Amino acid sequence: MNWEQLRHDCLQCTKCPLHETRTNVVFGSGNIGSEILFIGEGPGQQEDLTGEPFVGRAGKLLDDMLTVIDLDRSKIFIANIVKCRPPGNRDPLPQEQEACIDWLRAQTRLISPKLIVCLGRISAMKLIKPDFKITKEHGVWFEKGKFRMMALYHPAALLRDPGKRPETFADLKVLRRAIDEICDKTY
Ligand code: URA
Repeated sequence: MNWEQLRHDCLQCTKCPLHETRTNVVFGSGNIGSEILFIGEGPGQQEDLTGEPFVGRAGKLLDDMLTVIDLDRSKIFIANIVKCRPPGNRDPLPQEQEACIDWLRAQTRLISPKLIVCLGRISAMKLIKPDFKITKEHGVWFEKGKFRMMALYHPAALLRDPGKRPETFADLKVLRRAIDEICDKTY
């Protein structure tokens, strides 16, 4: 399956009840040739309305976080665990995550990143390990098959608790070091 076919099929998805309340599927955006894949939790209201990931307040903070290490959205790809908005911004249910994960798996196969950055606990628990503890394990690299994976605090968590920002600043430096060491291209 190529990227355009995958996108076309994903935009029609009715695999879970979230399709009934969505405005747009948020397929993901950025550079599909990137070696760096960021994965959030699921669309919020602004993302549902626009079809683009991380365009609300948390998205603006994500942009600032990327700027700290000289990255921007054109250099990475950004996707989510679930591609349709959970009503009222609740956490996506395990069965919704499971129904949606094959889209992300197919995207990951096509992008073939070297580094995967999970944004927040939900993404890390789904992709790194079910008992992931974000307060203890943010900024730590995990090897999973072909990928090196780490989690950062979700930007929405950093908006709620600015006290966590210095830790995230340090984690971003760890990410930058890995990018410089491991990626073939310069970012
Ligand atoms: N939060 C997420 O996890 N993903 C988005 O796309 C927006 C907010």
